[in-house]
Amino acid sequence: MKVLFVCLGNICRSPTAEGVFRRALERAGIADQVEIDSCGVGVWHMGEAPDSRAQQAALSRGIDLSSLRARQLSKQDFSDFDYVLGMDQDNLRAIRAMKPSNSQTHVGLFLAFAGTPDGEVPDPYYGGEEGFENVLNMIEAASEGLIQHLKREL
Ligand code: 4NP
Repeated sequence: MKVLFVCLGNICRSPTAEGVFRRALERAGIADQVEIDSCGVGVWHMGEAPDSRAQQAALSRGIDLSSLRARQLSKQDFSDFDYVLGMDQDNLRAIRAMKPSNSQTHVGLFLAFAGTPDGEVPDPYYGGEEGFENVLNMIEAASEGLIQHLKREL
């Protein structure tokens, strides 16, 4: 099973989702059965490490994002991944626009797994520290939901 987390820049929300979800997989004992990655739909931050505020917020919960590097969503991802999950409706539109018509990949919002079908993880880039805490809280909730979902699928 392969899951790809997608946001705009791949320096705030989706690397946070990757780090949080990796720990959730380890805690659930299924880390060897699920591969994950993250990427962005925008081009601006390719090759960069996560935003220092995102790294700091994650580190305060024991999650190290420092080795992650931003990359852009590609058509190949729709062959490689079973789930391509956007953080907000803009991400979702960009993902759907790139999805090949014959792709069977599940495309949707990550927060749907937190029980909020239309829920969005708000972009924290232009805000303050509290935005990053909010992102972490939402992502932790959605991660638990996605773990339960994948356990049923495995
Ligand atoms: P992300 O946040 O999509 O959660 O990585 C953003 C990072 C950078 C920009 C926008 C959002 N930006 O406009 O550069």
